[in-house]
Amino acid sequence: MLDKIKGLAKKYAPEFIEVRHHLHAHPELSYQEFETSKLVQQQLRSFGIDYEIKAETGVVGLIKGKNADRRIVALRADMDALPITEENNIPYKSKIDGVMHACGHDVHTSCLLGAAKILNELRNDWEGTVKLIFQPGEEKNPGGASLLIKEGVLENPKPSAIFGLHVHPGLNTGKMSFRGGKVMASADELYITIKGKGGHAASPHLCIDPILIASHLIISLQQIISRNNNPHNPSVLSITAINGGTTTNVIPDEVKLKGTFRAMNEEWRFKAHELMRKMATDLVSSMGGKIDLLIDVGYPSVYNNEALNELAMEKASEFIGKNNVEETEKRMGAEDFGYYSQQIPGCFFRLGVMNKEKGITSGVHTPTFNIDESAIETGIGIMAYLGSSVVFK
Ligand code: NI
Repeated sequence: MLDKIKGLAKKYAPEFIEVRHHLHAHPELSYQEFETSKLVQQQLRSFGIDYEIKAETGVVGLIKGKNADRRIVALRADMDALPITEENNIPYKSKIDGVMHACGHDVHTSCLLGAAKILNELRNDWEGTVKLIFQPGEEKNPGGASLLIKEGVLENPKPSAIFGLHVHPGLNTGKMSFRGGKVMASADELYITIKGKGGHAASPHLCIDPILIASHLIISLQQIISRNNNPHNPSVLSITAINGGTTTNVIPDEVKLKGTFRAMNEEWRFKAHELMRKMATDLVSSMGGKIDLLIDVGYPSVYNNEALNELAMEKASEFIGKNNVEETEKRMGAEDFGYYSQQIPGCFFRLGVMNKEKGITSGVHTPTFNIDESAIETGIGIMAYLGSSVVFK
């Protein structure tokens, strides 16, 4: 089976590199993946795979092998692009101004389509059912994964495991990296408005200075992390925008702050929200101001089931050799794959796409991000191999 998959991945890689070029040239923002969705549907139809539409642009396909009920595994790809203007000079450069596949979701979609073609072709050679999940809106709240789950993507049939692959521009092509346990953080957005009372800067006693209040608040919020969180538990708060005032001699009426809060422990995460609310309200009112604090709750942390991760690492070792399988680092970035891994055992792993000799080293979410496309053969192959061989109860 492994050799068959390897052979077909090699054979079909050029076809799916073309698919990737098309997707890359025609990127679509989160929840607007209409053309991408049509392309995915058209490809699945051409392979003879049944699918249904969920959350407008999501496509969920089913491939049944022998004894379809014996094991059910889900494979997930995300489809959306980012509001970034591409700076690469490549023949398949984005044709859409200000929109770019800068996080490799074109690659994820192409790899899963390739795997689908192989799994379908070999469906008499493996047992069980593979659920293909092409999801919208990974880059933007509320997260396509949460919408698909609400629409029942993890039911009928219910998978016993789910895998997601993500390109890794810091890892050489030909390699993959894995980690069990907590691998990525939750991400919540903070929107704060501090209301004071503006006036002449030479008469602060007649004003309530929201700039001074904001300064205290920014420092105090950091103490929530440093004094209340267990240091063994990664968590970070960054205030990333501060807007208020226009000139040297006027105290403004209000100051607006924005920020992000990240954690790897759901209990701490919601406790921290409470602490932030209390501290912000008490501090601002003690200084005479008023506050609006919105914590926009985003993706949960990503938890990789330890046993499933072990199994996936074994499969990857069989596929690309043990020395090409590495342990990946924890990240404070977020991924809506966390929603799936809250519901069923999940494994989110990395596919190396870096090639220093070819000058392919730019990070994700940058205007010069690209991949060494020889990684696509590996990506197709590993998804097909996991889909056809992992047995997990
Ligand atoms: Ni991404």
